[in-house]
Amino acid sequence: MSRSVVILGIQWGDEGKGKVVDMLTEHADAVVRFQGGHNAGHTIVVEGQQTILHLVPSGILHDGVECLIGNGVVLAPDALQEEITMLDGKGVQVTGRLRVSPACPVIMPYHVLLDLAKERKQGKAAIGTTGRGIGPAYEDKVSRRGMRVADLFDESYCNRRLEEVVDFHNFVLREYFGSDTVDLQEMKDLCRGYAEVLAPLLGDVSARIHMLREARKNILFEGAQGTLLDIDHGTYPFVTSSNTLAGGACAGSGSGPDVIDHVLGVVKAYTTRVGGGPFPTELFDDVGRHLAERGNEFGATTGRARRCGWLDASALRHAVRINGVKGLCVTKLDVLDGLDTIKICTGYTHEGHPFDPMVMDGQAFSQCQPVYLEMEGWHRSTSGTTKMSDLPKQARAYLDKIHELSGVQLDLVSTGPDRCHNIVCNEVY
Ligand code: GDP
Ligand code: IMO
Ligand code: MG
Repeated sequence: MSRSVVILGIQWGDEGKGKVVDMLTEHADAVVRFQGGHNAGHTIVVEGQQTILHLVPSGILHDGVECLIGNGVVLAPDALQEEITMLDGKGVQVTGRLRVSPACPVIMPYHVLLDLAKERKQGKAAIGTTGRGIGPAYEDKVSRRGMRVADLFDESYCNRRLEEVVDFHNFVLREYFGSDTVDLQEMKDLCRGYAEVLAPLLGDVSARIHMLREARKNILFEGAQGTLLDIDHGTYPFVTSSNTLAGGACAGSGSGPDVIDHVLGVVKAYTTRVGGGPFPTELFDDVGRHLAERGNEFGATTGRARRCGWLDASALRHAVRINGVKGLCVTKLDVLDGLDTIKICTGYTHEGHPFDPMVMDGQAFSQCQPVYLEMEGWHRSTSGTTKMSDLPKQARAYLDKIHELSGVQLDLVSTGPDRCHNIVCNEVY
């Protein structure tokens, strides 16, 4: 029987998706990215060797596994080239195993200029984007102005589109933002180079997924960012520009909902967020510093310090519902080692009254005061533990509480960054 699993973050990103995808790729034949772009930073550690991936699916370190980049991903060809070179340098064979959908929107240098110029203009209200041009590239896609990978291979069509789009964006950059502009000829030349990079990688991702299913192969769909960064269901406007939900796996890869057999939600044992926007359980004290230091909470893409706070079980329930999460992987449990008490947010108040935000947007979320339950911490190291029975009883009680509050079974618990630092509670495959 073929089995396809969607693995996605159910907080504000950086939950440890890369590690979990890499670990479960042992049982998979293909791994598919379906949204986002090189704003993602997915860290994999194998026997102490770290690899950070931004665009290439996190199955690439397993020989022979196919890696697919679906149409929902906004693609920066130069960033992809850089990543392939990095992997080549590590002796990882990419060509022949990686396929890119011709329907991916292309991220161009003017998208980066627009991203940065918008952020500058917003000042204190800035979203704190990764500055990779993600938002403007998705805007171009939706406005039907964008260039897609396929367009790069028809030179005269590509040039005609560029003439229009560069004229438009240069006007906005110059007149509205007072920013630098791009040179049309340079953009045309760049596109020729992009076509060369991408030519050997093109493939019909949707058809490939269908064939793999027919051949009863196992597929992993790898989410980027996290549920609370979803363009529709996240803390809008402090979100990314794609649908990060499990539902996005279908539209972003060209598959029907029937391909999804299981949804695995990856959740940190606490919460982090990079960039601006509301974060009810954020900590500004020694506990927050403990989480940041022990968790080494610095962005894998931009190196920015991540904001840290307690686990928010109310947001977790919301994420479980809108993704159809059927199993959880709790990561970074070891980061909580050494805390006297651990808190979990179970709901919110606003002006002293119970508050249940109907829409988890930035406005409603910024008014929430967390309501906590407090649990006993533990002082023994859980780092690298692989058996549930080896965990301190307080850590087991904490995991039980996450199960109870989320209403979802725990499939996995991660106790360290390495591929082998896991407790398997239920076999996902
Ligand atoms: P992703 O974007 O969801 O793939 O996550 P990132 O790679 O951006 O951030 C997760 C960080 O936590 C990386 O540095 C991982 O190596 C690390 N990590 C993952 N799982 C664990 C764990 O269980 N314990 C510890 N201490 N680190 C972990
Ligand atoms: P992974 O896949 C954490 C955040 C940015 C910013 C907002 C919008 O590694 O979990 P964007 O550049 O997407 O327009 O920025 O989204 N963000 C992430 N935060 N992890 C990520 O990816 C992120 N990708 C984007 O910090 O707040
Ligand atoms: Mg990350």
